[in-house]
Amino acid sequence: MADGRFYLTTPIYYVNADPHIGHAYTTIMADVIARHHRQLEEEVFFLTGTDEHGAKIAASAAAEGRTPREQADVLSARFRDLGGVLGATNDFFIRTTDPEHEAEVQRILERLHESGDIYRGSYGGWYCTASETFYAESDLLEGRLCPVHKTPVEWVEEENWFFRLSAYRDRLLALYDERPDWVLPQARYNEARRMIELGLEDLSISRAQVEWGVPVPWDPGQTVYVWIDALFNYWTALRYARPGEDLTARFWPPDLHLMAKDILKFHAVIWPALLMAAGLEVPRRMMIHGYVLKGGEKMSKTTGNVVDPFPFIDAYGIDALRYYLVREVRFGEDGTFTAEGFEARYAGELANELGNLLNRVVSMIGRYREGVVPADTGGERELAGEVARTATALREGFARLDLSRAVEEVWRLVQRLNRLVEERAPWSLAKDPARAGELDGTLFALAEGLRAVAIMLWPVIPGSSERILEALGQDPHDVALIRAAWGAGRPEATVQPAGQLFPRVEEVAA
Ligand code: MSP
Repeated sequence: MADGRFYLTTPIYYVNADPHIGHAYTTIMADVIARHHRQLEEEVFFLTGTDEHGAKIAASAAAEGRTPREQADVLSARFRDLGGVLGATNDFFIRTTDPEHEAEVQRILERLHESGDIYRGSYGGWYCTASETFYAESDLLEGRLCPVHKTPVEWVEEENWFFRLSAYRDRLLALYDERPDWVLPQARYNEARRMIELGLEDLSISRAQVEWGVPVPWDPGQTVYVWIDALFNYWTALRYARPGEDLTARFWPPDLHLMAKDILKFHAVIWPALLMAAGLEVPRRMMIHGYVLKGGEKMSKTTGNVVDPFPFIDAYGIDALRYYLVREVRFGEDGTFTAEGFEARYAGELANELGNLLNRVVSMIGRYREGVVPADTGGERELAGEVARTATALREGFARLDLSRAVEEVWRLVQRLNRLVEERAPWSLAKDPARAGELDGTLFALAEGLRAVAIMLWPVIPGSSERILEALGQDPHDVALIRAAWGAGRPEATVQPAGQLFPRVEEVAA
């Protein structure tokens, strides 16, 4: 941020099942933000990975006839591969079974132990293994069901190690008072604050009956509760992502944690308390996005209403999925995934409004100016102003994490360019030699507007943006946001036929 660096994270995903569109959503949104900050020429560290310990993973492994480690290896690789296919530019992929992570978790636990906030006690409560969490009786749905997964919870009673979370109430409230926007959106900030005000119970941070985990350093008969192990990934990754370097000096604390609301309490209540106990700075901000729904329900393995991202990517290309999710799921709110909605945005917006615009502009420059973009005549001042305003709105939108609005603004510019083609009707101007200057001005403005659009959309549809820049005769890697300034492109560039950026697709079933 202000210090020219930006550290952002996704949750680390459980390796109990294949990734679905819901996981893809978080990774894509994180990647869009990471790319935006790279466009601002900041030093970005983008972390994602997998959460591999605990009862949930052990149970899923047993169900597949695998050892937990085999299960973790197979499924972690699928999440990693998905990241590649999504075009995610993460700088590291952490696995909580990395020996470096495990050793670092033990070191941190020692530190917590020394802080005096760890004690031995016994606990009984309603546990949901899918959430890896205890619930109060009052949180359960009728029939003793987990409020998130709607599956039966079980009574678990153990002697464990506890973290004195209750002692952090005042310090957490002070944090909330000092930093009214550290949890976004506001409704989630209020929700988390209420959890703290209502009172916090101490947290059991070890498990006596779970073998698949990091041993508690001073009591190796117990393993570290998977959520404690997992949360610290945000710290441990920086300690070993670059061998021989400790990136915590440069990148701690995180600028942004991204997640859905299912794990709000862990991040907005428990995590800052753990960091305070460990003597580490708390993150600067977290953004809690909504759920991708299918059939009115959160898409999840437990509910069974998952959509596999791969067939959509194969048929439509990755940029189409990125664009669809950014537009369809308003950042911070729930949104519904449908194959019809996907096709509609693809055909109506990407193919028709953007793809056709490019083809028209390139072919007019080909036909009327032998493929060379005319020099700026200064004839389209108004459009130049709109480009500048859009770039500012985009930057401000991203700074507020109002991504959907930011991208809508750019799309308005795409529509403006389409209207400009109709209004100026270059095909008529071309018939009148006296209006050659006007035609030059318009063709320049269309190419320049599209160049700016391509740069501004690059975080969302990177591959397509690069193709647009190439078609316009521009350097496809010249995507810093300041380069979206009017007239900043390569002058009098030679356009190239672009082909179909978004070709027609046979429908895919969700
Ligand atoms: N392992 C924990 C997180 C530990 S982070 C220190 C976990 N894993 S998870 O595999 O269940 O992933 C949860 C996260 O995946 C959500 O917070 C969200 O980011 C993403 N999503 C999973 N399903 C989703 C939707 N249906 N919609 C939106 N995001 C979804 O919790």
